[in-house]
Amino acid sequence: MNIDIIDIKTITTEKEGQLSFFEADKDFDFDIKRIYYITKVSEGVKRGAHAHKNLKQLIWCPIGSVKIYLDNIREKREIILDNPAKGLVIKESVWRDMLWLKSDSVLCVAASDYYDADDYIRDYDEFIKYAGGVI
Ligand code: TYD
Repeated sequence: MNIDIIDIKTITTEKEGQLSFFEADKDFDFDIKRIYYITKVSEGVKRGAHAHKNLKQLIWCPIGSVKIYLDNIREKREIILDNPAKGLVIKESVWRDMLWLKSDSVLCVAASDYYDADDYIRDYDEFIKYAGGVI
């Protein structure tokens, strides 16, 4: 599947907490053009339900817990992001759903391109046809 789980470098100090960081090209292989984050979601809410034709994303959850359901029509995977040091890279043609396991989890995304509604596939049947042609 067109995904990777990466360790986000994290420096822990005994009394002052943690600092996590990643660097384009060193920790993942695309440049970042956009960063966004999702907040104020209640436990049990699902978002996502789409794939991207070209966009690559690094997703991480520094606060809380979110389950990511991934599907490339051949294989399905579930990954829980619940740790500031865990990142998930999702590349082209992967359908994703995201379930908030804890209210007010913060889901952050670094994306390879600007927002483009035409890059989204929001219909699952259309995704099956699209992914069948490119995988
Ligand atoms: P969407 O990507 O569907 O969110 P999720 O996958 O978390 O459910 O985006 C939700 C709305 O926000 C949709 O109307 C598109 C808009 N949007 C932007 O305008 N710019 C952005 O960078 C993003 C990510 C979304």
